[in-house]
Amino acid sequence: MTRRNSASAVAVVIVFLAAAELLHAGDGNVVKGKTLYANLCIRCHGVEGKGDGAMTFTPPVADLTAPAAQNKLDATLLKTIHDGKKNTAMGAWKFVLTEEEMRAVTAYVRQLGSGIGRSQP
Ligand code: HEC
Repeated sequence: MTRRNSASAVAVVIVFLAAAELLHAGDGNVVKGKTLYANLCIRCHGVEGKGDGAMTFTPPVADLTAPAAQNKLDATLLKTIHDGKKNTAMGAWKFVLTEEEMRAVTAYVRQLGSGIGRSQP
């Protein structure tokens, strides 16, 4: 292998590791995610994640507890948090949060979906 080839092989490995890191949300820190959610997401998504926060938009804020959200893969939710949704109020949090923080808040979105901490009906 030439010197140049091994350098590009190293680059490929680094890109792969970064992608694997990004796609793997399952190990996010829920406690940290809860704090981030309370500070950043609650005003739109609401205390329980039902999309009933203080601010309303068109198109409406997603209900994060609904099957439409919870049936998505962690990687899909993470990508929306990362890049936002075009032409909606959902912004790209990659400009604000670290990868670790986005994984943490994704883990907390999963917890909202599981109903833990949900108030009585
Ligand atoms: C300014 C309001 C606003 C804030 C703040 C906000 N969101 Fe959203 N979010 C939205 C809207 C509106 C949508 C629906 C977008 C659409 O129509 O696809 C959405 C969609 C989502 C989705 C996609 C749900 C699905 O079914 O695919 C996720 C996940 C999400 N938000 C997570 C978060 C997290 C985590 C935060 C905090 C870091 C956050 N949002 C902050 C408005 C907001």
